Amino acid sequence: MSKQLLTVPLRQSETDNRKVYIETFGCQMNKADSENMLGLLDEIGYKETSYIKDADLMVLNTCAIREGAEDKVYSYLGAWNKIKKAKPGAMIAVGGCVAQDAGQALLKRAPYVDVVFGTHNLQRLPDLVQQAEQTKAPAVEIWQELPPDLPELPVIRNNDITAWVSIIYGCDYNCTYCIVPYVRGREKSRAPEIILKEMQELGQAGYREVTLLGQNVTAYGHDLDSAIHLGDLLRLVGKTESIKRIRFITGHPRDLKVEIIDAVKEVDTACEYFHIPIQAGDDRTLRRMARGYNVDFYRKKIDEIRSRIPEAAITSDLIVGFPGETEQEFMRTISLVEEIGFDSCNTAAYSPRPHTPAASWEGQVSEHEKYERLRFLNSVVTDVALKRNQQYLNKVVEVLAEGKSERNDSRLAGRTRTNKIVNFSGPASLKGQLVNVFVESVNPWALRGVLNEEFSIHKT
Ligand code: SAH
Ligand code: SF4
Ligand code: F3S
Repeated sequence: MSKQLLTVPLRQSETDNRKVYIETFGCQMNKADSENMLGLLDEIGYKETSYIKDADLMVLNTCAIREGAEDKVYSYLGAWNKIKKAKPGAMIAVGGCVAQDAGQALLKRAPYVDVVFGTHNLQRLPDLVQQAEQTKAPAVEIWQELPPDLPELPVIRNNDITAWVSIIYGCDYNCTYCIVPYVRGREKSRAPEIILKEMQELGQAGYREVTLLGQNVTAYGHDLDSAIHLGDLLRLVGKTESIKRIRFITGHPRDLKVEIIDAVKEVDTACEYFHIPIQAGDDRTLRRMARGYNVDFYRKKIDEIRSRIPEAAITSDLIVGFPGETEQEFMRTISLVEEIGFDSCNTAAYSPRPHTPAASWEGQVSEHEKYERLRFLNSVVTDVALKRNQQYLNKVVEVLAEGKSERNDSRLAGRTRTNKIVNFSGPASLKGQLVNVFVESVNPWALRGVLNEEFSIHKT
């Protein structure tokens, strides 16, 4: 665990030795926000614990993307209330996208919650915790948008090799199924010099890989005075000392300009990995989703990537059972997965969300049908992913050793530049180094291999 304080001054610590337990649902944006929450709470004396029963403060960082994610929030809170009752003085704080949407209403379903804060006012968390503590009454504060001057928040990262760096917040699209614009607001880019400074601090602290984050990273910069885009940003931060790899997620096909692809090709540290969700393989569905492109447009984007960077990995998000989606339209998504040959896909059954038009449309697909489509899609995605991974068999790949393998303690795990998980045997001292691994076997989710002795370890 390493800590970097950015520009925010330390506050007087009033609650030393208190412990905070944090649980994070949802996307990488939420994971990055949780690291800021830990940094902020540290300033008022809360240290992280991984044992909830030790916690004086339990923080739930929530996701609203699908109904299931939201239901999970209330079932967790119910369980946390029991823990709270057993520990006098313990508090519960709820942040993230469900809190942003529900605000005060969250207390109706979970009146025992002490703090409710949203996605736009993370920096208020310490004050709200202290307010609830002093007044013994719930503190609820939701902002409708980010402040005009983005505050630089302290951060405690839970990984010391790879780090998230947010570059753009919010989303200006209005896909007809998606709650994100409602809970995350309009796009707002961070200034390039602030991103560069954060990257330099990460390099100095020994980090090796940075993932630039945003709901729509490919739109980076359009709202800034300088006419900068993601490609320029990659060139600017690409030479940061000791940062060996840079990735970015999530991209939108419409904003993936050729200049961005060229930057990935030309900047040595930029990894050959593109996560560009298509959502569906059928033009009528894409139109009704309001995605702003058709399948042919997407095919052209893939050609633009593959003609420049043939080895690039391409991954996607897919939704099945969008209202009105016919069996035939669904089958076009299946064909597209096979045609493109995605390295992997996040798949989901459509879930009606509040504040979104598609939720009230006629032609909602039955749960059973959505489940069947999802099962079939997943089997095809897995087959295609296996084929993609088979291309790595008997080859040597460059792997950033990130730590012990989750499945087998005696092995190390890392990723290729194309974001493939690689499990391999080797000494723990390799953590943080770029090593060459000979791939001996593959499955749809990962590669497995041995250190390749013919090649020396890369100098890091
Ligand atoms: N900005 C990204 C996606 C962010 S949300 C993009 O536009 O591609 C992450 C994923 O959640 C989406 O790509 C979509 O596949 C899924 N998702 C969003 N809303 C959903 C809903 N109502 N039901 C099911 N999946 C949904
Ligand atoms: Fe949601 Fe669409 Fe924005 Fe992605 S681009 S976050 S799917 S509204
Ligand atoms: Fe979920 Fe919010 Fe991310 S809704 S996917 S945590 S932006």
